[in-house]
Amino acid sequence: MEYYVVKGGSPLSGEVEIAGAKNAALAIVAAAIMADEPVTIENVPDVSDIRALVGAISDIGGEVAHPERHTYVINGANIKDEPVDNEAVRKIRGSYYLIGALLGKYRKAEVALPGGCNIGLRPIDQHIKGFRALGANVSVVPPGHVRAEASCLVGSHIYMDVVSVGATINIIMAAIMAKGNTIIENAAKEPHVVDLANFLNSMGAKIRGAGTDVIRIRGIEKLHGTNYSIIPDQIEAGTFMYAAACTRGDVTITNVIPKHLECLTAKLTEIGCEVTESDDSVRVVATRRLEHTNVKTLPYPGFPTDMQPQISVLLGLSRGTSIVTESIFENRFKYTDELAKMGGNVRVEGNTAIIDGVENYTGAKITAPDLRAGAALVAAALAARGYSEIYDIHYIERGYEDFPEKLRSLGAFIAKVSNKDEERRAINGFNMRIVG
Ligand code: EPZ
Repeated sequence: MEYYVVKGGSPLSGEVEIAGAKNAALAIVAAAIMADEPVTIENVPDVSDIRALVGAISDIGGEVAHPERHTYVINGANIKDEPVDNEAVRKIRGSYYLIGALLGKYRKAEVALPGGCNIGLRPIDQHIKGFRALGANVSVVPPGHVRAEASCLVGSHIYMDVVSVGATINIIMAAIMAKGNTIIENAAKEPHVVDLANFLNSMGAKIRGAGTDVIRIRGIEKLHGTNYSIIPDQIEAGTFMYAAACTRGDVTITNVIPKHLECLTAKLTEIGCEVTESDDSVRVVATRRLEHTNVKTLPYPGFPTDMQPQISVLLGLSRGTSIVTESIFENRFKYTDELAKMGGNVRVEGNTAIIDGVENYTGAKITAPDLRAGAALVAAALAARGYSEIYDIHYIERGYEDFPEKLRSLGAFIAKVSNKDEERRAINGFNMRIVG
């Protein structure tokens, strides 16, 4: 079993480049099968969730070429009429985008119920409501598959009861080749919804309003091939920004869209960090202990739930009492027990964490409960005094490309090891680097 060993206490410093957005890539890679021509997608992050989705596409007859690490060429001309199901697919959330893609293209989809991080109930009722509004019959059939089929999909006016990224994207995909017009109200506005719409428009779809809460779609006959590059990952960028602040470092994060990071930047500035933006980078400098604040997670452009653990870890080191309210997922505070092992002082009451800042964390043996919380705990370990071991790092690898390598390039003492011998060698290496 692989785990990270970390020696904390050194400020991160230098420059780090951000990969393509995982959550945009999951939607775009799935949507690529909707054309019967090659679709080239660039800037795809090399993370395990994407590899699982690409594997599922190959399994059902999609032709997949992988000419470079971050480029895929996908041709959906020969997709077979069979259920999407394998062990990897059942573990990821993004597999549900194959329901919208297959239903939209073939009027028929059968996909294993989605997995993903255990951060709450994560129902898919809004996806189903949208598919039904377009005329599909949707049912759950053994062995735990969602089956959606329609003799004909017809555009509709759909009002979403909750703002859902996944449902908005899935309904867009199901509607682009429906007869007539579709309007989605109360749509999600996240950058990856816009990226997916831009991608589909580059294949001939007619989608307007992505990025606002009303999306209008004019149904078209078929999509053609394209060449598209995915936007940078807002959450990976935010994770490095907050890790820099946790370690009182000085880090320039490149290949970002600063507009997507505005609410993250605003919170850092509010608590005393210096953040400088340029066209496609942000520099975060934290030279002293930061101040407390309150945060509530909200759909975009609010503070993202995917950055909630990272800001909580940072506020755990700040002066005074902070209150963090999680309003999207009900089970996203599991990491606070791990943080307590490192000396963090966090009390969770319902969907609120009350954080009393401590001067320092201390290294400990901790377990990543999910993807973002895992990355946040690594930031805590980098800031902590002493050594930490972080287990269940497969969660982190679902969504962060080369995480330890990128941190090492910023001067961090972190290594991926699989036994005590390797751990000892890694620690010797850390200490030699310090002496050298
Ligand atoms: C996406 O999940 C992301 N996953 C999540 O990222 C992210 O946390 C989330 O959006 C919110 O930004 C992917 O893109 C693969 P939602 P998704 O539908 O689409 C409720 C990460 O760490 N809801 O926007 O599953 C739901 O329970 C992951 O990268 C319904 O009630 O999230 C939640 O309270 C974790 N019914 C809220 O809506 C539905 O049918 C928002 O969920 C759908 C959602």
